[in-house]
Amino acid sequence: MSVRQRDPLSGHETTGHEWNGITELNTRVPRAIWWAVGLTHVWALGYWVLMPAWPLVTTYTKGVLGYDDQTRLDRQLAAASAERAARTQPLATLPARDIRQEPPLMAYVAGTAPALFGDNCAACHGTDAAGGPGFPSLVDNAWLWGGDADTIMETLRVGINAPHPETRSSQMLAFGATGILSDPQIRTVVSYVRSLSAGDGQADPQRLAEGKAIFAENCSSCHGENAKGDRTIGAPDLTDDFWIYGGDEASMVATVKLGRQGWMPAWEDRLTTADRMALTLYIQNLGAERAR
Ligand code: HEC
Ligand code: HEC
Repeated sequence: MSVRQRDPLSGHETTGHEWNGITELNTRVPRAIWWAVGLTHVWALGYWVLMPAWPLVTTYTKGVLGYDDQTRLDRQLAAASAERAARTQPLATLPARDIRQEPPLMAYVAGTAPALFGDNCAACHGTDAAGGPGFPSLVDNAWLWGGDADTIMETLRVGINAPHPETRSSQMLAFGATGILSDPQIRTVVSYVRSLSAGDGQADPQRLAEGKAIFAENCSSCHGENAKGDRTIGAPDLTDDFWIYGGDEASMVATVKLGRQGWMPAWEDRLTTADRMALTLYIQNLGAERAR
């Protein structure tokens, strides 16, 4: 037991310990600290009772206030999507030409469509929607199926050669691989087709006449007598100098020899009707801008 002593200078009690003539003061813990400790304990006890606090084996103490972040988040999300649905409702129900008359709706389209396009379409059609080898441009006014809003909406809904029960289907036959046409015949018909656009101005008339005959017999059923294409079956216009797979001789010979079958996903289950309408209007606007 140490003997209680007071430090003559400060008046505090000492602990009674002394090292080399230095005694240790027995200073009290300040009152404010005791209060703070006391109050935080009371606060913690109150919190345990009121709020979710202690983990149990399979659940946790819920607290008498019934506060739950998950429920609150769910409610906020539901409210946000209801608000969004109310705003996008006209996009899902009005015809495109009526939507165009409504500046607030078009402002919404301008705000959302570029990101939608970037996330869902740009990987194939390019960030500027101008396409690339194997993927058609959506802004060149050369349509496989058609560029009016209803047709684009339908293309987006069901896809092309997609695993959707109502998908649009199309196929360019493989005339070489199936032995329907010989290599020289393929080159001849390709010369003819290229002569219809900017392509093969040099080909001799005899060869073009032969090509024309091959075309009439093998190709016109899909691409049309005049090679202007057929939008009911997605067969492209071969006279317009817009090419999905390339208009040079080698690409065209490959197309006719081996066939082609582009694949475009169906978006019915992946994008809402309003989103698809926003994309449709966006594509049409890009095309109109480009035409200007
Ligand atoms: C996986 C690649 C891919 C993605 C992703 C894709 N497309 Fe396509 N899309 C294609 C291909 C390939 C075709 C042409 C199919 C063919 O050659 O018959 C096409 C055709 C189209 C057509 C028809 C064009 C016409 O001339 O009639 C439209 C419209 C279209 N896409 C819009 C979109 C939009 C909008 C998106 C984004 C929601 C999108 N595509 C995403 C590959 C894709
Ligand atoms: C059964 C219908 C059908 C027949 C027959 C057919 N085509 Fe096609 N052709 C298509 C379709 C559909 C496409 C588009 C394929 C795609 O985009 O995936 C196409 C695409 C093409 C293309 C590529 C166009 C581009 O933009 O790159 C060329 C070239 C072509 N056809 C030439 C011919 C020639 C030449 C013949 C006759 C020897 C022929 N086709 C016969 C349906 C047909």
